[in-house]
Amino acid sequence: MERPARGGYARAMHGAGTPTDPLTLESALEAHGRHFRELFPGASARLYFSPGRVNLMGAHLDYNGGTVMPMALDRGTFLALRPRADRRLVLVSTLEAERLTVELDALPEQAVGRWFDYPLGVLVHLLRTRPAVRGAEVLFGGNLPIGAGLSSSASISVGTAFAFRSLWGEAPDPMACIEAALWGERQWVGVQCGIMDPYAVALSRPGHVLWLECREARHEHLPFDARGLAIAIVDSGIRRELAKGDFNRRVQECQEAFRRLAPRAPEARVLCQVPAAVVEEAAEELGPVLARRARHVVGEVARTQAARQALERGDAEAFGRCISATHTSLRELYEVSVPELDRIVELALSWPGVLGARLTGAGFGGCAVVLLRPSALSGFRGHVERGFERDFARRPPVFFFRGDAGPREVS
Ligand code: GLA
Repeated sequence: MERPARGGYARAMHGAGTPTDPLTLESALEAHGRHFRELFPGASARLYFSPGRVNLMGAHLDYNGGTVMPMALDRGTFLALRPRADRRLVLVSTLEAERLTVELDALPEQAVGRWFDYPLGVLVHLLRTRPAVRGAEVLFGGNLPIGAGLSSSASISVGTAFAFRSLWGEAPDPMACIEAALWGERQWVGVQCGIMDPYAVALSRPGHVLWLECREARHEHLPFDARGLAIAIVDSGIRRELAKGDFNRRVQECQEAFRRLAPRAPEARVLCQVPAAVVEEAAEELGPVLARRARHVVGEVARTQAARQALERGDAEAFGRCISATHTSLRELYEVSVPELDRIVELALSWPGVLGARLTGAGFGGCAVVLLRPSALSGFRGHVERGFERDFARRPPVFFFRGDAGPREVS
């Protein structure tokens, strides 16, 4: 779940750099290491990177037991980490004045509504089975647009698990990081998120999209033609304080729709397995709101399958059409778009060489993802900026990204 922009948390985590920042990842991480040494003079820190993610298909399917198609981004969370000789833990961020200093033997018993809840939840979970480890000093930062549908929370959570396990000399284990991240987010922070985000952060590969069947937690990597296709992100700049409540309401609506549909579809274990025809038969009984939610879900199941087939036969146009149809469904049936995102999608689709566009993440604001031909890159940013500015009197950040290899130490 992307966090709502509450308490400056995401800003604190991702303040170093902007979406159009020309810094390379390496130089940004080096700067992060220097920042650490200014704060904590002495020996240098170990540096880690943990990506954000974008979801191309399977919108709002993870918590409905369906299949999603995310990929990791080459933007994310930076961690500079140095072990201490004692059992003190110090968590600092690049933008938030408040820091956490605590003894490992006296950790808080619950989340405290501060920026450090996410990394702390992960650590509480990991420390349960590692009672004797030493403390550490950590500086968090990053270059991911904030609270914007690009999963800054999973980026931080998975990154924290990865970096600490590495510091403790443990072998990289994506599943252990995913488990710690999910525990932290669900049990410590209290968001009933699906599994997509930590899986995408921990398991993506460059040049591929992740095909993640969420009910079985089964995944494969599907080749994604990184040379023939480009991906842009356009940030609507809209951050809804209520995003978490709106998200949880959609989760509940889907649960209720499934409860009512289940007697008509005895084979189905999750909403994503209910046949579209059953949803239509039951539409009146569901009522207009739940019928719209269920129609989005079953339609998205079919579109995600179609998108995979398009990708496998190298039909980028058809893949793009699936992405754009998802946006229409999110706007009309799932009702999680906002006028700014609709305008970005409309502008993007009017640019020659753009194949598809949709909002990404939970919605209610945040970013749109745009699939385009590399030949369409030149001029795309200006076109979207100018068109958006005419309606909303400001320019939205536009940036281009590549896929990423997941959490790692950067020497
Ligand atoms: C948020 C959640 C994800 C997923 C998406 C919608 O990002 O964190 O688990 O449900 O919304 O696809």
